[in-house]
Amino acid sequence: MSTYLVAFVISNFDHISETYRGVTQSIYSSPTSKDKGRSALKNVVLTVAALEDYFGVSYMLPKLDYVALKKNQGAAMENWGLITFRDDSLLSQDDADKHKTLKHKVMQNHEISHQWFGNLVSPEWWSYVWMNEGLATYFSYVITDLLHPEDNVMEIFNRDEAEHAYSYSSFFDVRPMTYYVETESEIMKVFDIISYKRAACVIKMFHHAFHQKTFVQGINRYLKTFQYSVVSEMDLFDSIQGAVLEDPRFQDQHWKHLVRHIMLSWTHSEWLPIVSIVRNYENNTITLRQRSIHSKTEHWWIPLNFATTQSPSFEQTHVEFFMPPVMEHTVTVEELRLQLAGRDWLIVNKQQTGFYHVLYDTDNLHAIARQLQSNHSVIHAMNRAALFQDLAPLIERNEFESVDVLFELFKYLEFEDDLTPWSQVANTIEFFDNNLYGTTAYSLFKQYVRRLVTPTFLRLFHKDKTEVVTMDILVRTDILHMACRVGMPECLDYTHRLVLEYVFKNINFESDYPDYYAIHDTILCMGVRQLSDEEFQKLIDLLIVTDPNTAMHDDLIYSLRCTRNHRRMHHYLNVLVGENFTYNLLNERESMFYLAYVFKSNVASRSSIWHFINQNYKQLARSPHFVTLFNDIAEFVPERQRPYFATLHRNIDAYLRAEHLSSKEPLIPVDSRRVGKKIRNSEEFLDKFEHQIHNWLLKELSPAGSDGTYAASFSVGNGSARPSSLLSAAGNIVRSAIGV
Ligand SMILES: *[C@@H]1O[C@H](CO)[C@@H](O)[C@H](O)[C@H]1NC(C)=O
Ligand SMILES: *[C@@H]1O[C@H](CO)[C@@H](O)[C@H](O)[C@H]1NC(C)=O
Ligand SMILES: *[C@@H]1O[C@H](CO)[C@@H](O)[C@H](O)[C@H]1NC(C)=O
Ligand SMILES: *[C@@H]1O[C@H](CO)[C@@H](O)[C@H](O)[C@H]1NC(C)=O
Repeated sequence: MSTYLVAFVISNFDHISETYRGVTQSIYSSPTSKDKGRSALKNVVLTVAALEDYFGVSYMLPKLDYVALKKNQGAAMENWGLITFRDDSLLSQDDADKHKTLKHKVMQNHEISHQWFGNLVSPEWWSYVWMNEGLATYFSYVITDLLHPEDNVMEIFNRDEAEHAYSYSSFFDVRPMTYYVETESEIMKVFDIISYKRAACVIKMFHHAFHQKTFVQGINRYLKTFQYSVVSEMDLFDSIQGAVLEDPRFQDQHWKHLVRHIMLSWTHSEWLPIVSIVRNYENNTITLRQRSIHSKTEHWWIPLNFATTQSPSFEQTHVEFFMPPVMEHTVTVEELRLQLAGRDWLIVNKQQTGFYHVLYDTDNLHAIARQLQSNHSVIHAMNRAALFQDLAPLIERNEFESVDVLFELFKYLEFEDDLTPWSQVANTIEFFDNNLYGTTAYSLFKQYVRRLVTPTFLRLFHKDKTEVVTMDILVRTDILHMACRVGMPECLDYTHRLVLEYVFKNINFESDYPDYYAIHDTILCMGVRQLSDEEFQKLIDLLIVTDPNTAMHDDLIYSLRCTRNHRRMHHYLNVLVGENFTYNLLNERESMFYLAYVFKSNVASRSSIWHFINQNYKQLARSPHFVTLFNDIAEFVPERQRPYFATLHRNIDAYLRAEHLSSKEPLIPVDSRRVGKKIRNSEEFLDKFEHQIHNWLLKELSPAGSDGTYAASFSVGNGSARPSSLLSAAGNIVRSAIGV
């Protein structure tokens, strides 16, 4: 037994117990909370039995205790036979929402899984922490899904584990799963997204690729061979290798002896592969290419499988072809045993069980779009979502060839009632929205998106509330945001009403949505756009008299900046930092940072803010942080506004010198590379695609009149900014990494 698994608890706790198959399991808690452990007790008894059956290895001790502590370092610890939890994840709450209850169940099952993965068989060193955490993470979901298929916990896996594993490299340093560490602080650091989430995704990939039963056979060998002892990753791979060789379905596969190589290519690589599938329509071959999402060269053995028009077999997720670790490999359709005619579609990585991205050639994407438009349910929801997930990075870097095909892919969304694809496509649509704002194509774009999002919005926000609870609040927020942004009247009325009720009648709409403030913020922001002049003024009046240390003050400050009306924005800026302002609402430093935040988060505010600075720089320059603000927003000056910027810059420079005003940093040089840096991507986007998009939309929709979007003389409206969404994604990852 490894020393890290020893624990003692001394307490006057009371307990409830149940004995099944010779194992007594008990939930310990403070005597008054004893009965709150009933549902956990029921769960743990089921789970231990299910794990015994699934892996074919009995639980090894006569007892297994679960202790509900007020505080616990980390959320839970899998000590052998004596698992400690923070009490909220073990004792049920009366008002518990479904999602939270499920997460707690998965967490309990995670610790129980450790009794096998980690306790019965321990890694020989912390370099292999992923073997504990990856196996426990993945199989806690698998076993929960097996016991309660109706709860769809694999959806939670996709969102809370896989999605972070796919995106972690954008925010953090990466390292291979197997990674040598020595000191205590190094050891603490490998309890991270890579050991938990990436490893869980890689294990899931092989669980599917090698046929689920065969893989579990391998795990059974592993547990039996190495019980009460320690292992390296090779011991795991060799156990799986043994099971693969015994599976007659793999006898003809050239890779059947290569399990070590195959799995090592994943546990010793840092990044994620992008597989591109290029069909050669003349000779019916397929060229497979793999590259890392990073410039570092890495290659993988990649398990591929295929669905086609003639064989849309999305349920079969085992490997059909292992792409070898080379940059490019061409195979014939016959070699892959595919029925694939020229106009048929081809989809790789069924249900996205493989941990990689897939890109397709444009003709194949058109074929997929045709299928989506004629009957999208033929293509599995996970693959509909994966299409958008995989295209998003290309789109955001302006690297895709044709926007026509994208808009063809979007078209079916009008009929998409699964929220998984919506959650993937939402960011892309927001990206288009930001970039097209203020262009002539914008009102057509809004009209198009309104058409797509209306049915889903109505379903989510105007129907029976009971449906709501199990659904992901973040996707709901995305839908609400999208619908209001494109001016869907029902959405605007809805948020408008909620804002008025909240601000003036103190009716808190949050109570409908336990746990999350994301939707609260979105409702405030969108609702503010729909206010009348009089209501807007009332909010400002309220802001002035509200105690700055209250949530209401924060909410007002947060939401007033969302207005897209230039006159109101100007008025609001005057109240905040105009000539008569005192530092009552925000202090000097806060107000400059706030202006920068408003500028970046609300594309429609930008021209107002430039105007305001032009009129008020003498007043604003009293703040030593003014120049920092100016330099910051200079990064968003588009090419065509350079002359205006140069004049303003010259005036400010002269004024600062004349008055000997101090600032935290020097004024940016007028010809600095920094000027316009943050908007170049957006300018490039418009150069490349604005025409194409406009024409596509004109063809698709009957020409619509202007929707009244105000085009200011100094419009930087067609710029993009998505800082807050990136920040909050990173924040979520950090939070959930710490929470596991
Ligand atoms: C099929 O066509 C592709 C692209 O034109 C080419 O690269 C490949 O070598 C051809 N393959 C065969 C077997 O002719
Ligand atoms: C669409 O595809 C699904 C899944 O293959 C099928 O069950 C359904 O009947 C199809 N619907 C129509 C209208 O063809
Ligand atoms: C950006 O928007 C302005 C009007 O708001 C428009 O005149 C201009 O053509 C748009 N596109 C570019 C690339 O500047
Ligand atoms: C500032 O106060 C002066 C004197 O009360 C007033 O005339 C002026 O209009 C005010 N400015 C703004 C922008 O409200």
